Order: sequence, then structure tokens, then C-alpha cells
Amino acid sequence: MAGSLTESLRRAPPSLHRREEFWGLAWEALGWLEQNVQRGMRTLETGAGASTLVFAASGAEHQAVTPDPDEERRVREACAARGIDDTRVTFHIGRSQDVLPKLPDSRLDLVLVDGAHGFPYPILDWWYLAPLLRAGGRMLLDDAYLSPVAAIVDYVRGSATWELEKPVSFRTACIRKLRDDDPPGEADALAAHGRMSFAYLPPARRLAASARMRVFSTRAGIWLVRKLRAPS
Ligand SMILES: C[S@@+](CC[C@H](N)C(=O)[O-])C[C@H]1O[C@@H](n2cnc3c(N)ncnc32)[C@H](O)[C@@H]1O
Repeated sequence: MAGSLTESLRRAPPSLHRREEFWGLAWEALGWLEQNVQRGMRTLETGAGASTLVFAASGAEHQAVTPDPDEERRVREACAARGIDDTRVTFHIGRSQDVLPKLPDSRLDLVLVDGAHGFPYPILDWWYLAPLLRAGGRMLLDDAYLSPVAAIVDYVRGSATWELEKPVSFRTACIRKLRDDDPPGEADALAAHGRMSFAYLPPARRLAASARMRVFSTRAGIWLVRKLRAPS
């Protein structure tokens, strides 16, 4: 990392958001971007900041989606101050949930989800960006310890369409799209991904509901029900 852009950002973290402190990706994740993003790659991020500087410096054809026009100004000024060419960076000023559904079809190589983090925004970002990512392309999910992001990681763990790769920092998950396919829609064990929650029921009813679902959503349970219902 020595002599790298990440290292220089780390030495003097820029203030690119409407707050004093540095609000960017973990240094390890910025370093990963610096090493893995190559000139000409088609990339997109929700949110903007230090990561945008790294995408720009790497020579990617980059798109950043943020509702704050001030961030574009600050990022472009920070690029200019460091001699980084930002001409391949396009900003879409708006909320990702409004902007992403209107983007033209594309084959993105790499995507960073780091915009709004409350429920359900990371899931919406993932949903709208998944078809725009090429098969084999990677998606970085920042703040993966938060439940809306963790839900995506949980889904990916049991999916045949995505795979979970090595995390790129202590808080940034990395998933790779294997092929185009929608998640299955059935309310079965696959949808549950091994986790069912009955917290919406009063405590006294949870145990019975949980036992019933766990038995009858397994293959053996379904087989048993069919057997019992079949005319003798
Ligand atoms: C944690 S910061 C991103 C940090 C950036 N990746 C970096 O390395 O500096 C979160 C970003 O999400 C943006 N944001 C907030 N709500 C958003 C939304 N609904 N859609 C897109 N971006 C949003 C904020 O303006 C901010 O740029």
C-alpha cells in the first residue's frame, strides 16, 4: 500500500461528506479497490466519497449515485487537488432507489453498495444492480454487519446464482454473480435459508409454530403429509 492513493488518503483523510470526520470505506477496502479496479472497467457505486477518488484514479468508466450534489463538487475538487483525472466519472444526483431503476441496461464489472444503509435500501440497491452486473462480476457490500446488508449475504450463502468471496475488509463483504437468475419465490426451506423467525407471534405460540414449520417445510415432512393425505 506504500506510495498508494489509499495510503495518502489515510495520512490526510479528506472531508467529502457533510461532516467533519472521514466517512469512507475501511482502508483495507479502499486498498482492495485500488488493486483490483483496472482502466476501462465499468463500475458503479451507491454513495460517493473516497471510494469515488479511487475508482477515478484507477481509470474505470465509473458512475456514482448520491442524492447530495455537494458531494460531487467535493469529490471533483479532491480529484483536482491530487491530479486525478475525473473525466470518466459520471455522477447521478438522486436517491439510488429512484435512479437505479431508470439506468440503461449495462454489463458492469464491479459494483459497490454503500449508499443508504437502513432497511430496505441496501436490498433495493442489490435488487436493481444485480441485472446490471455481468456474470462473473463482483459486488462489494459495505457495513455488512447491519441487518439489511447481512440479509443479502445470508441469501447469497445458499444461492446457486451468487457466491460469497473473501471479505475485502472487516466490514465489507464481497459477492460474485455467477449467472442471471431471479431468486426463487417459493415459501420453502430455500426461502428461509435455515433461519425462520416467529417473533411476530406471542411467546406461547412460537414454539408450536416453529416446530410445525420446521417439520413440514422439510422434505421428509412434506413426504409425510402427502402420504397421510393420499387416499388409501
Ligand atoms: C458511508 S457514505 C459512502 C462512503 C464512500 N463509499 C467513501 O468511501 O467515502 C454513504 C453515502 O451514501 C449516500 N446516500 C445516502 N442516502 C442515499 C440514497 N438513498 N441513495 C444513494 N446514496 C445515498 C450519502 O450521500 C453518502 O455519499
